[in-house]
Amino acid sequence: MDNQEIIKDERRTALVTGGSRGIGRAAALKLAEAGNNVVINYQGNEAAARETEELIHAACPDVGTLIVRADVSKEDEVREMVDSIMDAFGRIDILVNNAGITRDHLLLRMTAEDFDQVIATNLRGCFLLSKYAGQQMLKARYGRIINISSISGTHGNIGQVNYAASKAGILGITKSLAKEYASRGITVNAIAPGFIRTDMTDVLREDIRERILAEIPVKRLGEPSDVADAIVFLSRPESGFITGQVLGVDGGMGI
Ligand SMILES: NC(=O)c1ccc[n+]([C@@H]2O[C@H](COP(=O)([O-])OP(=O)(O)OC[C@H]3O[C@@H](n4cnc5c(N)ncnc54)[C@H](OP(=O)(O)O)[C@@H]3O)[C@@H](O)[C@H]2O)c1
Repeated sequence: MDNQEIIKDERRTALVTGGSRGIGRAAALKLAEAGNNVVINYQGNEAAARETEELIHAACPDVGTLIVRADVSKEDEVREMVDSIMDAFGRIDILVNNAGITRDHLLLRMTAEDFDQVIATNLRGCFLLSKYAGQQMLKARYGRIINISSISGTHGNIGQVNYAASKAGILGITKSLAKEYASRGITVNAIAPGFIRTDMTDVLREDIRERILAEIPVKRLGEPSDVADAIVFLSRPESGFITGQVLGVDGGMGI
């Protein structure tokens, strides 16, 4: 029996970490539009998570949703989140490791705490979710794990030693886990967005934004939906022969 037969006639369930805002919200919406039940994880912004859920219900009234507060860097909270998803839907088919933070400083001004916080959320979070959601995928012998890295992880960036290290680490997880899980029907891929318009990038000064724009060959900033479309592509059963890859969604910035 192949994987497509296993999931036939049933909605798949997608977990999007950091689904309350930005790229995660766009991914949650598009994964729902693609016919998946969607779990919206957030850390602190419950109102934003509810807004994501309302957008999904308005666009896709038949799709099931669940909102779960959990800090992805905390092992017990991740385990409880996975348990609550299994109670609600009985399956986790798609995992989007999207939750992420920045604490940007030039190296000499970066504290060890800035470093640890970013590694904990971005890298440890990816590890913990891949482990505990992946355990359910292994049982089902089917899964799609999509890790959100960054052009900072593939190319480096001034002021982002901590963030770039976390995002490069995500590529290490992606490629290693792709090999570990390949024979079990589970693919593991990464997306490396360039500059995308979200709360994370809204804080940048106008002159920095203009400088970045000048470096983007397609001559526009990215939108969350640009990344969400790539996530949906990798989440499909038909993408089962693509694994261990890093897909740049950056308007050509990383060429
Ligand atoms: N924007 C860009 O240009 C860009 C470029 C490359 C890569 N990325 C990556 O894309 C991902 C999404 O970025 P974004 O721009 O959409 O960010 P954003 O608008 O700042 O949203 C961040 C999301 O992550 C959640 N989050 C933060 N810490 C968390 C934790 N410990 N546990 C659970 N959830 C947590 C937030 O939840 P709350 O709402 O509860 O705070 C929020 O939903 C990140 O991994 C980021 O590094 C972004």
